[in-house]
Amino acid sequence: MSTPQKGSRKGGGEQADKYTEFVSRGLGRDLAKRLGLPQPAILRRYEPGAPLVEGPILVLGHGTGADAVAAVLLEWDQDVRRHATPKEKLGAIVVVLDELAHPDQLSAPIRELGASVRDLAKNARVVSISRPALIEDAPEVAAARNGVDGVVRSLAKELRAGATANGILLANGIPAESASAMAALRFFLSGRSAFIDGQFLTASSTGTGTDGSQPQHDWAKPLEGRVAVVTGAARGIGAAIARTLARDGATVIVVDVPAAGDHLAQVANEIHGTALQLDITVTEAGARILDHAAQRYGRLDIVVHNAGITRDKLLANMDAARWDSVIAVNIASQLRMNKAFLASSHFTQNPRIISVASTSGIAGNRGQTNYAASKAGVMGMVRSTAPLLAAKGGTVNAVAPGFIETDMTAKIPFATREVARRLNSLQQGGKPGDVAEAIAFFASEAASGVTANVLRVCGQNLVGQ
Ligand code: NAI
Repeated sequence: MSTPQKGSRKGGGEQADKYTEFVSRGLGRDLAKRLGLPQPAILRRYEPGAPLVEGPILVLGHGTGADAVAAVLLEWDQDVRRHATPKEKLGAIVVVLDELAHPDQLSAPIRELGASVRDLAKNARVVSISRPALIEDAPEVAAARNGVDGVVRSLAKELRAGATANGILLANGIPAESASAMAALRFFLSGRSAFIDGQFLTASSTGTGTDGSQPQHDWAKPLEGRVAVVTGAARGIGAAIARTLARDGATVIVVDVPAAGDHLAQVANEIHGTALQLDITVTEAGARILDHAAQRYGRLDIVVHNAGITRDKLLANMDAARWDSVIAVNIASQLRMNKAFLASSHFTQNPRIISVASTSGIAGNRGQTNYAASKAGVMGMVRSTAPLLAAKGGTVNAVAPGFIETDMTAKIPFATREVARRLNSLQQGGKPGDVAEAIAFFASEAASGVTANVLRVCGQNLVGQ
């Protein structure tokens, strides 16, 4: 989504979407219904201790993969169905399609899915588990596999009442019930993925130890004992990321420019972390972060590159200062810091790098050639950095937010803002915490087989590629 010119440096509060509140009850709801106006749902967001989903989970699919996924859900104490029970409200449907070999084979499971869609409860989840179409696949196999993409993205646009549809792709012939696929499934089922719709996560390796056993995870405190750094954390999305990582158990170093020092200190105090005033564009930024982490905690495990700026202008009017500053902050700094992190003996224990990109970097945006170049650059960097992290047993991923309710987007003129925040399948803007939850997932131990992904957190924004 468009990230407009940034202005004043005020606190990082989330902005209210008053329209959604108004049409969610009483007179407002009746009025919106009669006039055919958008009726965005109040989304179910993650609360520690809340159930994973609100209702039974129907697992569709007839292969051994479906049985194995159902068994994992039972291990998680979920109420699992292998067949639809008429009129029973479902918390989720998981459709396992890992054995598809021809588009004709889509018919039975997808129509079975369709027959149960009306039984989905509010804020329910549909999750597919399938394989990516690869160049080396036989054409009919690739057609069948890619068909799932079309189904999930279309169904996501049909679902209502806060329900979402997303998919998991199993790379390298890994089994449906692999630990990494199950971590992605848990994320998509939970309230942590509330603003993610019509998207796919690729499980690139099993995520299990060398003995192939299913690792045990602390799902309530998945980042316990980990040391993280978050750049641009004085306000907005960065502050939300710092809070979320701390909630999940991490010790967090928050970084921002000296001018944001007061807000930065507030965030650090609130989460019992430490603040580091630093302009990330200076040559020694990576070394400064490593020194800070090593001196206080003896190590660094998770790096979140969140700091970013916009300097919007049509390309015809773009001056060097606007272009160069956006490239310097949004991408060149990350490349330089990553080199330092990768060379450090303090960044070696299942290290994680997560970058904040933008849907502008995927679809382009008028007035943002510089910003889109930097954010598309981030995605390219992430893919090429994955093998370097893999060599250290680590992962690197990016999150691409769409329209997020922050002080920054609150400054967009009313009519433009209203259009921008409704133009997605969930008909509302996301919250900074929605971006933070996706980052916390990538940072977690359970996601150790999930790398080189770019995950859109945009409510299935209508901007395409
Ligand atoms: P924000 O402007 O509220 O916060 C960015 C923070 O980064 C600020 O605290 C700023 O001081 C800091 N920062 C900027 N330059 C820095 C530097 N050289 N060194 C250290 N810190 C620096 O922005 P917001 O909305 O929280 O965005 C965070 C990230 O999310 C950015 O990368 C942005 O491009 C991205 N994003 C935001 C979207 C939105 O709708 N708000 C949509 C898509 C992406």
